[in-house]
Amino acid sequence: MARRISTTLLRPGMRLGRTLYDGHGRVLLRHGTLLRDAFIARLYPLFSFVYIDDEESHGIEVPETIPMELRLSVQNLISAEWQRIRSQASFERVTFERRFADKLRRNMKNLLDVLNNTTIIEEDLASLASHDNSTYVHSMNVTIYSLMIGSAMHLGDSTLIDLALGAILHDIGKLWIPLDVLNKPDRLSLDEFERMKRHTEIGHDILAQQIELSYAVANCALQHHERISGNGYPNGITGDDMHLFSKIIAVADVYDAMVMDRPYREGCAPGDVMEYLFSRVGVDFDLDVVSLFSRKVALYPVGTNVVLSDNTSGIVARLLPDLPSRPIVRLLADADGMPMEPTEVDLSQVLNLTITHSKGLAAMTVID
Ligand SMILES: [Fe+2]
Repeated sequence: MARRISTTLLRPGMRLGRTLYDGHGRVLLRHGTLLRDAFIARLYPLFSFVYIDDEESHGIEVPETIPMELRLSVQNLISAEWQRIRSQASFERVTFERRFADKLRRNMKNLLDVLNNTTIIEEDLASLASHDNSTYVHSMNVTIYSLMIGSAMHLGDSTLIDLALGAILHDIGKLWIPLDVLNKPDRLSLDEFERMKRHTEIGHDILAQQIELSYAVANCALQHHERISGNGYPNGITGDDMHLFSKIIAVADVYDAMVMDRPYREGCAPGDVMEYLFSRVGVDFDLDVVSLFSRKVALYPVGTNVVLSDNTSGIVARLLPDLPSRPIVRLLADADGMPMEPTEVDLSQVLNLTITHSKGLAAMTVID
């Protein structure tokens, strides 16, 4: 029972539609909490959007692709290890804690088990990120998307586990990039960009030293910013020389980064990002990877605000497994933007209507 609205539109008395966690995986506010001014003030700096539960969204369930306990188990494991290795003076001799790789592998296996029963990601995974946990949520989302693509390619389980390890650790080299460069909202200077690029080689060097990990995992850190036509970094190799894992992680990484909200900008709509990925096929990305990915992730996740071609607007209520691009939409506002009696329209049946915009339109569907 939820829909997504901008944090700026939260009002006392609204009910939270999804539990919110802080950067350490601790519950900030539980699903069902009635919001008060003090709560809203706490949420505002951390989240750009949250799910609320109201009469208009009654009965709409935002699916939970990955059980939160599993997500938090991975997040806590990684954040503890990151903290530990960040304190080590140099990346040239980093050693993981003795059981870290084993524990991570077990978690990746559990993740794969869940995803083996998932045909399409129906929720907006990027919406789980707050401004203080976005790194962990992003790594996890990249891993989920990579596994969805890899299993659509019928890779075997042990290959998929290596792909998952490569995806979850792909940005480990960023631990050695100064935070002011990492979090800079503006364009990086040439010098800063050169420093940023180094995270690929640093990550590779760290992972290649870990005897518990296969070299394919280290290679993901090295190659995930390489691009098919050779215009990526650090080595400018082309698609022929890129490992399949890197082609997969490159797509998953760019998709999640573009969809995710940042403190300084709202994330792009999933459908728009998918269009962008297709437009860069053969230049940046591999055709098979992008095509398979486009069938595994909902362009209009459940709970998303949408505007239809007749200017009516509402929220995505349900997805149809065979036709996820034409969901069932609960209309809440008429063509003039005036509130209307909630009515559901099944876009798989009503073919003369299309979705023209999604996301970022919260103001149009909030009825005070
Ligand atoms: Fe990266």
